[in-house]
Amino acid sequence: MMITATASLNAQPEGANYDESKVPEYILPALLVGNDGSAVSGRQQWERRRKEIYDLFEREVYGAVPAWRGKITATEISHRQDALGGLALRREIRLRMQNGDKSRDVFLLLYLPRSRKAAPVFLGYNFSGNHTVTAEKDVHISPSWVANNKELGITDNRATEASRGSRASAWPLQDILSRGYGVATLYYGDVDPDFDDGFKNGVHALFDQPRDSASWGSIATWAWGLSRVMDYLEKDPAVNAKEVFVIGHSRLGKTALWAGASDRRFAMVISNESGCGGAAISRRKFGETVSRINTSFPHWFCDNFKKYNDKEETLPVDQHELIALIAPRPVYVASASEDLWSDPRGEFLGAKNAEPAYRLFGLRGLKTDEMPAPEHPVGDFIGYHLRTGKHDITRYDWTQYLNFADRHFPGSAARPGR
Ligand code: GCU
Repeated sequence: MMITATASLNAQPEGANYDESKVPEYILPALLVGNDGSAVSGRQQWERRRKEIYDLFEREVYGAVPAWRGKITATEISHRQDALGGLALRREIRLRMQNGDKSRDVFLLLYLPRSRKAAPVFLGYNFSGNHTVTAEKDVHISPSWVANNKELGITDNRATEASRGSRASAWPLQDILSRGYGVATLYYGDVDPDFDDGFKNGVHALFDQPRDSASWGSIATWAWGLSRVMDYLEKDPAVNAKEVFVIGHSRLGKTALWAGASDRRFAMVISNESGCGGAAISRRKFGETVSRINTSFPHWFCDNFKKYNDKEETLPVDQHELIALIAPRPVYVASASEDLWSDPRGEFLGAKNAEPAYRLFGLRGLKTDEMPAPEHPVGDFIGYHLRTGKHDITRYDWTQYLNFADRHFPGSAARPGR
């Protein structure tokens, strides 16, 4: 059983290729050529081509979501008018997912700027429980299974006070809220605990369909969970559902991209250091490869993806096409200079090679052919930056995402004092 704690996420595993001169020559699958060989030059043709690409990712990479026959009931379990020193309204919402006599609770933590009626919201999973994103004492401690982690004082897969606020640096709430945006976050393990248990726990227990080689892995399950949260946000009058931006770091950045591809209600998509199976081109085999990811995390993708272990060149898709599925919505890809495991150049090239889809809509992508220097964000409808430092999501990263959101959703930018 592979159980990864957040503390190990910074590791740069050995035995991988980190040498650019050893990247094999490769040809990317053509984005704008249909399966029947026809060229795609207009938006209508793109819609057809988009479906072909989506179906390939679904069948060969992330896996298909079975039909959901249950119901979801939202209940507010806490409410505070004066969170973050009076800057925000804070609510905790329990989403009870139910199918027959089986149920699963997922807890949403919502911060909304007090200054607005219907706020644009960044929606993203957190790694270790809602109580880890803030030091505020009255946010419930996650009751779910969490990975053991000595630093966070977790020894029996249960979170305690010791982890409160431990991931606050990944969620600069003051910055986000004071710029007029809300945050909706939930623990990814509420939806599916991140270990290989043969898809029995988490929400999988609520689905009784038999599995096959194209059935969903955990990334698709987490993406499904984000869509169910979106169902809730659409009904919440305090949220501007037309401006919900899905964001994620690392495995959750892979999840954000697949969620954005699968559900067009997400108005913007942000992938922070998503690496292999995220924004990075698989054919480069730089840093983490398809066989490494499928071995360490056999539950993340569908079984079909394992056919491409050490055979990346035979994949019918590559990750630039995942980013292209988000067009014409704004998408942001970010890398960190020391995070070679995620292949920064591969992430840049994933973004770069998605541009033709945006061009079909008359939109500009990165506006550069060269990978920019660190701390030089680029791009129009496709944003990109390389941050100096390690695998993480930092205040610097968030500042770029807030600027990107202000630019694409100018109505969202908080007016007073700006
Ligand atoms: C591991 C894994 C990556 C993943 C990362 C994370 O390093 O190999 O694919 O992105 O964990 O989620 O932080």
